[in-house]
Amino acid sequence: MLGNFSYKNATKLYFGDDSLKYLNDELPKYGKNVVLIYGGGSIKKNGVYDAVISILKANGKNVVEDAGVMPNPTADKLREGVKIAKAHNADLLLAVGGGSCCDYAKAVSVSVNTDEDPWEKYFVKFDEPTCEIVPVGCILTMAGTGSEMNGGSVITNHDTHQKIGHVFGEEVMPKFSILNPKFTFSLPKRQMVAGIYDVFNHICEQYFSGTDDNVSDYLAEALMKSVIKNSLVAIDDPENYEARSNIMWAATWALNTLISRGKTTDWMVHMLGQAAGGYTDATHGMTLSAVSLPYYRHILPYGLSKFRRFAVEVWGVAENGKTDTEIAEEGLAEMEKWMRKIGVALTLSELGATKDMIEGIADATIILDGGYKTLNRDEVVRILSESL
Ligand code: NZQ
Ligand code: ZN
Repeated sequence: MLGNFSYKNATKLYFGDDSLKYLNDELPKYGKNVVLIYGGGSIKKNGVYDAVISILKANGKNVVEDAGVMPNPTADKLREGVKIAKAHNADLLLAVGGGSCCDYAKAVSVSVNTDEDPWEKYFVKFDEPTCEIVPVGCILTMAGTGSEMNGGSVITNHDTHQKIGHVFGEEVMPKFSILNPKFTFSLPKRQMVAGIYDVFNHICEQYFSGTDDNVSDYLAEALMKSVIKNSLVAIDDPENYEARSNIMWAATWALNTLISRGKTTDWMVHMLGQAAGGYTDATHGMTLSAVSLPYYRHILPYGLSKFRRFAVEVWGVAENGKTDTEIAEEGLAEMEKWMRKIGVALTLSELGATKDMIEGIADATIILDGGYKTLNRDEVVRILSESL
């Protein structure tokens, strides 16, 4: 039975190969002072930077740049970003990049008008913002996280080996996001597939929970099928607009709060992956792929009927003459074949994790209870060890 819920998504989206022009519609809604947030320079190579700058200039904006947002943005960088935005008296934070830039912009947005340390306040104490929030807009260049249409913000603290996500409310969601699938064409293949696996796993995290008949699960299955099909096109033909646009749109729907309405959710792959990320600083999607198979094989007996449904509905496994367990296991075997085909990491060792890190990663793993099995610490250690 669907649980009770409210639903609103506060982000306005512009999607398509001409979508950047709508920045002209959005900019006049905000004051003059814009902080342009971007990463390590990919936007300078693929022309997105020049295109954005010329629109900002045409709209008479006073722009300050906050560049160098790294993948898995750090608490130190966040403190620096808050200083830049404060000094510039920012009216709009415009993030141009992947999930890291969008997440970072949200974290800055809730920290400009408070004197408290942003890491401590939002990622250790999980306070909700009570200060004025600077509006955020996103121009997305990588499909994966869903950050363009959600309130999530994940920050990494290298000193403490922690990678922590805070899911803020609608007031922190981007006011607008611009999604041009062509901007993703320049992604290196490894980043593209990491993003694809991130999308797929966001759907799994919301699918592998509950025993009721729930419309969200049907939506999830459709999204998963689309991601699988289009990923196989995109790995052979990265500039296939149809495939890249489908992946980009599926990424947004995978984590824009819709498919979790009215149901419980799991999120343990993310908890394990994030904890591993705190130690290795590895690419987000790859940390998820590395722990997924050991985790799902471990919880399969506890969620057997859903894993059976996953096998049949998502992977087309034939049912005749097989036990439920055989069908469910075949589904995960098909998933593994797909993961190998697109080329995601299947072990934590290839991401730089070592045996001596396992205890620390296990300590850092937040155990959630929305899935089919609430793990105990021994199980966490076992799954992490099997993932090595
Ligand atoms: O920094 P630049 O030079 O831009 O290069 C980036 C970066 O090196 C590159 N890139 C992005 N777009 C490109 C491109 N290179 C060439 N052409 C383009 N068009 O890709 C690299 C990775 O970018 P990043 O933004 O780090 O990737 P992603 O979008 O996967 O974001 C990862 C971060 O988001 C968090 C992750 O934990 C991680 O910190 N997440 C955020 C979530 C949310 N807000 O809800 C949920 C997710 O589960 C995730 O945890
Ligand atoms: Zn993710």
